[in-house]
Amino acid sequence: MNEPIEFSVKSGTPEKQRAGCVAVGVFEKRKLSAAAQLVDAASDGYLGTVVRRGDLDGKVGQVLLLHSVPGMVAERVLLVGCGRDRELTDAQYSKAVVAAARALAATGASDAVSFLAELPVRDRDVYWKTREAVASSRGALYRFEQLKSEKEGPQRTLRRIAIGLSSRKDLEAGERAVRHGSAIADGVDKARDLANLPANICTPSYLAERARELAEKYPSLSVEVLDEKEMDRLGMGALLAVARGSREPPRLIVVEHRGADKGARPIVLVGKGVTFDSGGISLKPAQAMDEMKFDMSGAASVLGALQTAAALGLPLHVVGIIPSTENLPGGNAIKPGDVVTSMAGQTVEILNTDAEGRLILCDALTYAGRYEPGVVVDIATLTGACVVALGRVATGLFANHAPLARELLAAGQYTGDRAWELPLWEEYRESLKSNFADVANIGGPEAGAVTAASFLARFTKKYRWAHLDIAGTAWTTGKEKGATGRPVPLLCQFLINRAPGAR
Ligand code: BES
Ligand code: MN
Ligand code: ZN
Repeated sequence: MNEPIEFSVKSGTPEKQRAGCVAVGVFEKRKLSAAAQLVDAASDGYLGTVVRRGDLDGKVGQVLLLHSVPGMVAERVLLVGCGRDRELTDAQYSKAVVAAARALAATGASDAVSFLAELPVRDRDVYWKTREAVASSRGALYRFEQLKSEKEGPQRTLRRIAIGLSSRKDLEAGERAVRHGSAIADGVDKARDLANLPANICTPSYLAERARELAEKYPSLSVEVLDEKEMDRLGMGALLAVARGSREPPRLIVVEHRGADKGARPIVLVGKGVTFDSGGISLKPAQAMDEMKFDMSGAASVLGALQTAAALGLPLHVVGIIPSTENLPGGNAIKPGDVVTSMAGQTVEILNTDAEGRLILCDALTYAGRYEPGVVVDIATLTGACVVALGRVATGLFANHAPLARELLAAGQYTGDRAWELPLWEEYRESLKSNFADVANIGGPEAGAVTAASFLARFTKKYRWAHLDIAGTAWTTGKEKGATGRPVPLLCQFLINRAPGAR
C-alpha cells in the first residue's frame, strides 16, 4: 500500500537542498521564478540555457525533469510551468502544484522540496498556498487499490515533500497550513475510500462500524447507532419505508465531536447514506447503475469532516447524523402511490420510489432538531437535475438563512470546492402538492433540484438550514470513475472558519 506523502515546511534556498528533487517554477517567455533564478545562478546559467532550447514553454502545468544540474546539491530539478509572469489564479496555482506532484511521484526520488508556494497567487497568503499545495498534491496522488490483488504500474518511491519557504517568518503559518492541509486531505481520503467501496461491502452496518472505529481513534468523538426498532419508536416512517425493500438493515448513525463546552449550540451535518440506489420499484435503467454505490457520498463526507474536526481538535460542538439504507425493489418494498407518515407527522405520498433521498433525509432532519442546533447542513447526492443544472463543477446550495449560505459559499471559494446558490422560492412548492397526502415526494419534470430542496425545506423550518446537492460533484464518471471526496474541503473550511483561533 502506498502511504500518503508526508508534508513539511522548511526555509532555505533551492541550490542547497539535499533531496531527491527540487521543484521550481518557470513562466512563459523563458522567465524564471525567484527560486528558478537561484538555481540558474548556482548552475552558472545552465537553467537559462535549457529553457532557451525551448523544451518548456512555461504553460501552466507543463513539466521538465533535469538530472545532475551543476551547482545543485539535489539529484534532480523539476521545472514547472506557471503561465504568464504575473499573479496566478487559484486554479492555475492548483494546476501547477498537481502537475508537479504527479511528475515528482513518477521519478525515483524518495523526497523532494517544492518552491511553488513562493509563486505569487492573487489575494492568497503563505498559509493558503502551502495548504493548497498539500491538499491538491494529496488529492492528485490518491489511489483506491484496496480491492486489487496486484497493484498496477510502478510503485511510488516518493515519501516526503517539503514546501520550501524563503523567509523564516513564514514558517509558523506554513506549519499550521501543513497540519490543516494534511488533516483535510485525510478527511477527503476517508470519504473517497468509503464512497469507492462497492455496496456489497459498504452497507449501512459497515458505515456504522467505520463510525465506531473513528470514535475509538479520536477521544473527542462519540457514536450512537440507532437500529430499526429505535427508528420505529421515533416514528421515522419515511426512512423505514425506503429500507423495506432491502434485506440489509438500515441504520441511523450519530457521530458527535465535542471540542466545545456543552453550552454551545451544535453544528449539525446530515449526510445521505443510501449505500445503493437501484431506484426501488421505480427501477433505474441498467446503464451506469453501478455508480449508485456512490449514493452514500453525503454520509462519507460527514464522516470525513468529523474526522478532520477531531484530528485538528477544533473547539466546536459538531454532530453528524447519517440516515443509511439501501433502496431496492423487493416483495415488501414501497410502491408508487404509497402514503407514509414521517417523524414530523407530515404524510408523504411516494409517487416515485427513486426519490428516496428526501424521504430518509426528512426524518433525519427532524431528528436533528432534537440537538437544538445552531445550524444544520445536509449533504446529499440528491438529484440528477442538479447535475444538469451545474454539471460537475459546482455543488448546488440551498438555504433558508442568507448568512449561512454566504458562509458556505465563501468556504467553497477558499478551498476551490465551490458551491452555487439556487433559489428556494415559495413558487416552487406548488409542484409538490398531493391529492392524497400532505406532500408528494416528487414535483414535475422541471427544476428537479429545487423541488427536492423545497421538499426538505418543509422539515427544516425550526432552525437555520442549508442543503448541499452533491450529485454532480461527489464523483466523476467515465474512465477515471471514482469518488472525489467533495465537499469535505468545503465542510472543513466552514468548520475552521467557525472555530475560534483555528486560523
Ligand atoms: N441518487 C439519485 C440522484 C442522482 C442521480 C445522483 C444521478 C447522481 C446521479 C436520487 O436518489 C434520485 O434517484 N433522484 C431522482 C429523483 C426523481 C425521481 C424525482 C433523479 O434525480 O432522477
Ligand atoms: Mn433515487
Ligand atoms: Zn439516491
